[in-house]
Amino acid sequence: MNSTRPLRLGICGLGRAFTLMLPTFTQDPRIQLVAATDPNVQACEQFEKDFGIKASENLQAMCADKTIDAVYIASPHQLHAQHVLVAASMGKHVWVEKPMAITLDECLQMINACRAAQVQLMVGHSHAFDWPVLKTRELILSHRYGQVQMVTAINYTDFLYRPRRPEELITELGGGVVFSQGAHQVDVVRRLCGGDVLSVSANTRTWDSKRGSEGAYNALLKFHSGAQASLTYSGYAHFDSNLWMDSVGELGAENAIFNPAQTRARLKGMDDPMQEAQLKSARNYGGSLWSGAPAQAGPMYHQHFGPLVVSCEKADLRPTPKGIFIDSDDGHELLAFEAPKIARQEVVDEFYGAVMNGQALAHDGDWALGTLEVCLAMLDASKTQSIIKDLAHQHGFVPQLGASSS
Ligand SMILES: NC(=O)c1ccc[n+]([C@@H]2O[C@H](COP(=O)([O-])OP(=O)(O)OC[C@H]3O[C@@H](n4cnc5c(N)ncnc54)[C@H](O)[C@@H]3O)[C@@H](O)[C@H]2O)c1
Repeated sequence: MNSTRPLRLGICGLGRAFTLMLPTFTQDPRIQLVAATDPNVQACEQFEKDFGIKASENLQAMCADKTIDAVYIASPHQLHAQHVLVAASMGKHVWVEKPMAITLDECLQMINACRAAQVQLMVGHSHAFDWPVLKTRELILSHRYGQVQMVTAINYTDFLYRPRRPEELITELGGGVVFSQGAHQVDVVRRLCGGDVLSVSANTRTWDSKRGSEGAYNALLKFHSGAQASLTYSGYAHFDSNLWMDSVGELGAENAIFNPAQTRARLKGMDDPMQEAQLKSARNYGGSLWSGAPAQAGPMYHQHFGPLVVSCEKADLRPTPKGIFIDSDDGHELLAFEAPKIARQEVVDEFYGAVMNGQALAHDGDWALGTLEVCLAMLDASKTQSIIKDLAHQHGFVPQLGASSS
């Protein structure tokens, strides 16, 4: 019989990612927050105030609590591998934020450590978990519209001008949009095109020298299924592509359109990178600028990662926060969605199902290793001006989407 008791979760890193997951953690009865650790004293004090639990001194001390089932690791990218290894060695199931890590070697160590400890390893949240993506994938797998031929994914944001820690603007340390945002976009198109990338060409762009690493890219991925995906991302944008998503923001909120002048003005006079890092921290959980309000106040729709067109042989499918638009020979149709009851519940569905009921993960370590491999190939393709082939970590994740049953 399936378990129904709450999963007892410890948190490693109470920053921005945790701030975004918090509404899910507090609203979904399948999750019970039971411990936390973070060097940031204010965030720990807030956790104690909200949950009546004193934060642990470090991850090792937190994992000594035998009643914790799993750890959500939302520390900076460069610490993911080290933190996963500690949690796994202490017998905890692991949910680690994207990107899985910065190098393929780190990913392989994480996978091996979790396998050896016989604990689950899930990587996310990424927007591949979003309900509209899951439902589009179901339509594709029904073969009703024929084979996926081409996917176009676009996102224009102010990502580069949101306050950052110094390393978030240094590519070698995992900075720039390819690691942080490519991890979403690549995950989404891999889900829709069969997972198995054959070749990658890309050009990244860095056009603001004050914000050191890549802020934009175009990439073309070819898949084993025969599909191809074109990815466009700009974190320098003045135009907000949420306008093409009925003005629903990435997090599902209505009228979530950024003001480019305001975003840039916030950074004026911030010549010391540590001052900017402090501003980032102040806006997070427990910080002086944190409002305490849930991320999704007001009407809520499904989350998304920008406009997406999935061109199948017999229809174009457009997943959006409110439903999937289907244009086919039979005309124009909207497969409307109910509003989500709890944001990002799909992520808990997957993790809870795996840890508590032994179900298979879709976004496991092997999957996320494949996504990081593509992101690294995008950087490499741009640097060497070549097409990257012979990717080694792509095969065998999801049912082939190429074979049409009709
Ligand atoms: N899926 C999403 O929507 C999403 C959104 C934001 C960030 N992220 C991911 O989350 C990760 C963190 O990014 P962020 O923007 O939240 O950064 P952040 O700086 O806002 O938060 C990181 C937190 O980790 C803490 N930390 C540092 N060292 C630690 C340690 N040794 N032990 C425990 N905690 C430690 C920091 O004090 C900070 O509170 C990144 O990998 C990022 O890609 C994911």
